Amino acid sequence: MDQKNVWIGTNWKMNKGPAEAIAAARALATFRPPEGIRCFLTPPATSLRDVCSVLEGSPMMVGAQNMFWEDSGAWTGEISGPMVVECGASTVLLGHSERRQHFGETDWTVNLKVHAALRHGLRPLICIGDTLDEFEAGVSQETLARQTKIALHGVSPEDLERVVVIYEPVWAIGSAGRPAEAPFVSGIHTELRSVVREIAGESGVRIPLLYGGSVSQANICDYVVLPDVDGVLAGRGGWDPADFMKLVACVSELVSAKVDA
Ligand code: 13P
Repeated sequence: MDQKNVWIGTNWKMNKGPAEAIAAARALATFRPPEGIRCFLTPPATSLRDVCSVLEGSPMMVGAQNMFWEDSGAWTGEISGPMVVECGASTVLLGHSERRQHFGETDWTVNLKVHAALRHGLRPLICIGDTLDEFEAGVSQETLARQTKIALHGVSPEDLERVVVIYEPVWAIGSAGRPAEAPFVSGIHTELRSVVREIAGESGVRIPLLYGGSVSQANICDYVVLPDVDGVLAGRGGWDPADFMKLVACVSELVSAKVDA
């Protein structure tokens, strides 16, 4: 683990209506992560504005879980970049595997959304992931390289500095998932680092690469110590504000142990 920022986020998915979301945001409003740890959360769209208001001025970044690539128009059920910005969010999750799997997102629609997010000054948090079939067939690296290259296709060098890539193996997500072994994640992230360097040149070393999938207090440090892992995105392990703060505490202990050593 080096001196780079460590990112710790939680994706609330389709949980917490406005009342519960506001209560959770209030519980996090005075939380100050230690220097070098960047925290974010992605509430459902119906709570985005409220959560942004409660967390205004706090170091916690707030993002949408998805957005459409057009700015307005006849797109029933969608929300646009300008709407996300108006709610006060600074970031947006794109291409989560649950959206690819259940809502027809493709590598190319993710690319359109990445461009739209950047156009509106939002930081895209781009999720990529291999399915169990792909993992078992030994094509995880190929899948992830394709998803990453297409998501970032046509993005300018300056904008590449604002993206975050999150590796979330589909088989590791959710209560039926099993967390990926740290050595496996290490290999994947080393390879991902060369993919982003191929795309972004030397500045590819600065693109944060996060891991997500059954991250918990028990395993967060196993991932964060890996050289090409710049943080994690938790789901269940971070939904409860107290648990989220404990995830951050685990990593801060690691940071201070490293400093004391
Ligand atoms: P879990 O941590 O609940 O497995 O979810 C991970 C995830 O999908 C975060 O986006």
